[in-house]
Formats: sequence, structure tokens, C-alpha cells
Amino acid sequence: FPDAMLQRIQSCGVVAVIVIDKPQDAVPLAQALLAGGIQAIELTLRTPAAIEAIRAIASQVPEVLVGAGTVLTPEQADEVVDAGAAFAVAPGLNRRVVERCQARGLPFAPGIVTPSDIELAVELGCRELKFFPAEPSGGMSYLKSMAAPYAHLGLQFIPLGGLDAGNMGSYLGSPLVPAIGGSWIAPRKLIQQQGWAEITQNATEASRIVAATQN
Ligand code: 3PG
Repeated sequence: FPDAMLQRIQSCGVVAVIVIDKPQDAVPLAQALLAGGIQAIELTLRTPAAIEAIRAIASQVPEVLVGAGTVLTPEQADEVVDAGAAFAVAPGLNRRVVERCQARGLPFAPGIVTPSDIELAVELGCRELKFFPAEPSGGMSYLKSMAAPYAHLGLQFIPLGGLDAGNMGSYLGSPLVPAIGGSWIAPRKLIQQQGWAEITQNATEASRIVAATQN
């Protein structure tokens, strides 16, 4: 990731994971998150609306950094670049996806959950890694111990999977973790109900927890 982008993600501290059903919800959703201090979105390619939603946020809400999630094929990497995604992530590590993102100049964070995953990611040139699924795998104590042998490489881990307002604090404050993320801030159901006020509330709460650990 370019330094400026990583700094932006780090200063916000939270990435909202989004599953969206209607492209027309994208802009109000991004604005609701922004109103609660969240400026980074992982918009997952799990619904047909995703690409259009990325395009809408990238062009209409430039204050929000919108990346693509669940990028599973090289063709999807092409699609999200063309839609204006700022970065891409996936639950796992697929060499062909990494290589296509590199060829297209799209910052990519693969999902990792074992030391072998980390070593393959490093070999492929990745430095920002999505630690997924973080909570079921053992959380911060697992990450700390897994990352220890690679400390000299300066890797950055973004924990996702099973996080919420109650446990996100356990990850923050570690130099390994520039940001955390998850879907609890804007769950799919709440987006379907256009619950923008509640999403802003969730975002505000998450931002408050980040701010408390940054002080
Ligand atoms: C992801 O793709 O990062 C996960 O769906 C996020 O996990 P969560 O839904 O448990 O927050």
C-alpha cells in the first residue's frame, strides 16, 4: 500500500466491511459511515450490486477510501480497478489475484491465518495482510505469537472476522495493527433497512474506541 493510503487507514483505525444489495444504497451508506468518522470501506464482491456500489462511492464520496473485498479471481481484480477501487482484499491468498493486482497497480492485502500464509504473501511482495478470521483463530495473542518471527519485515496486519465494539480494543494499540475491521458497523440487514442513523451510531462508537487507544 502506498504510505499515504496506509496512513489514512491507520488514522481512521476501522474498516467497515459491507455486503450491499442495492447500488442506490451505496452513497447514503458511505455518508452515514463518514458521519460517524469511518473513512475506509471494504465493499465485498458477494452481491451483484457490489461493482456499481464501488463505482458510486469512488466517484461521489471521495472522502471515503473504498476498497473491494472478496476479490477471488484476476478478472475481479480488473473489474474493481475499472470501478475505481482504491485497494483490494480477499479472505485468502491467491497467487494469480496478487499478481494481477500488482500488474494493475492495485494495492492488495491477502488474507492470512498461518505462518505459511505469511511466508507466501511475503514472497509475493505483500506487506499489508488481512488477519482473517481473527477472533475464532485466537485473536491478538495468536497474532502476536504468529507475527513474532517476522518482526524485522515490518508487516502490517488488519484483523477481521468476529470483531465488534466489545473486542476490537484488544487489537488496537499494537504496532502490528494499523486498523481493524468488520461487518458489525453496517450489517447487511441494517443496510437493507436503510438504517443510516444506526450505522452512523455504530461508526461513532467504533471511532470513539479507536480514539481512546490512540491517546
Ligand atoms: C470479511 O470479509 O472481512 C468478514 O466478513 C468480516 O468478518 P465479520 O463479518 O465477522 O465482521
